[in-house]
Amino acid sequence: DKAGYKHFMAKEIAQQPSVLGDALAHYLPEDGLNLPADLDFTGVERLTLVACGTAHYACAVAKYWFEALAGLPCEIDVASEFRYRAPPLSERGWAVFVSQSGETADTLAALRHVKGQVARTLAVVNVPTSSIAREADLALPILAGVEVGVASTKAFTCQLLVLAALALKAGRDRGRLDDAAYAAHLETLQALPGLVNQALALAPEIEALAAEVARAQDVLFLGRGPLYPLALEGALKLKEISYIHAEGYASGELKHGPIALIDRDVPVVVLAPHDRLFDKTVSNMQEVMARQGKVLLVSDGPGLRAAGAGTWASLRLPEVAEPFAPIVHAIPVQLLAYYTAIAKGTDVDQPRNLAKSVTVE
Ligand code: F6R
Repeated sequence: DKAGYKHFMAKEIAQQPSVLGDALAHYLPEDGLNLPADLDFTGVERLTLVACGTAHYACAVAKYWFEALAGLPCEIDVASEFRYRAPPLSERGWAVFVSQSGETADTLAALRHVKGQVARTLAVVNVPTSSIAREADLALPILAGVEVGVASTKAFTCQLLVLAALALKAGRDRGRLDDAAYAAHLETLQALPGLVNQALALAPEIEALAAEVARAQDVLFLGRGPLYPLALEGALKLKEISYIHAEGYASGELKHGPIALIDRDVPVVVLAPHDRLFDKTVSNMQEVMARQGKVLLVSDGPGLRAAGAGTWASLRLPEVAEPFAPIVHAIPVQLLAYYTAIAKGTDVDQPRNLAKSVTVE
């Protein structure tokens, strides 16, 4: 049931404040974190995060969190590569498998591969009865509710929330987060439903920009730090449902090749909250503008003021304390893909060649 929305994808994007609220109520109740008592990261030597597609990008964001908040060595890989490259595994390591469906063949095979070679396997899944949930030592549900649209949206932000809770737990267990920092991070996460609601209010602005993006042949997405995986996710979402060629890059990589693509017909979406890396991203953005590239800057109030003139367009998100801005940046990225697909008249919920659950390797 689309609950009055034109597409499941629109409904699922709009549901994010409420499903994030559900996940918060479960994992971050009033008194802190609610995770199984024996989930103790103290002696964990390293964390290996394995997934496919959008779930892999959630892992790529989480790597920044586990490293920054918990000092935990963390490696990530796509499931289809992981198993075939003889990854060194540690008996004192944990492996985490992230999957909306819990049935993705490559991710399931990767889980089976590490069994017995790591101390513990965790599943971060939306479907608690799925194969991956059943076969992992511990399954943590993301509580996003049924996701019907082939392009993953609410599952992505809920995966991020659960991974953020795990990173905070790791930071506490490993003595890396003092009380004040911990409390501040909990407060940021608690504010997410409201922040995401504010981001959703950008829909009419994004719809207007999408009419123009729909005419492009190629679109680039740029981000730094934990926003880099969001650039990859933005490009994936756009390709999947609008069939426009899109690529995501780390902002600093632009000058190492992709800048050759820039001309006045290439929209460049820059995801840049006003954080400690902002000035560097602005200079990357200016390199694009100097070549007539059409920059769509997604930032917050302070960022937009500091960036100055010359962009094609901008979107103002609420300010979000580092490092959780990626969760809020997911919203404009999803809406841009959605409205661009609408402008192109493609089948948003059932894009060609794609299936909701990929059960072949
Ligand atoms: C992208 C998308 C896919 C899935 C990927 C993994 O919008 O939906 O990239 O994220 O196929 O699926 P799950 O999470 O079910 O393992």
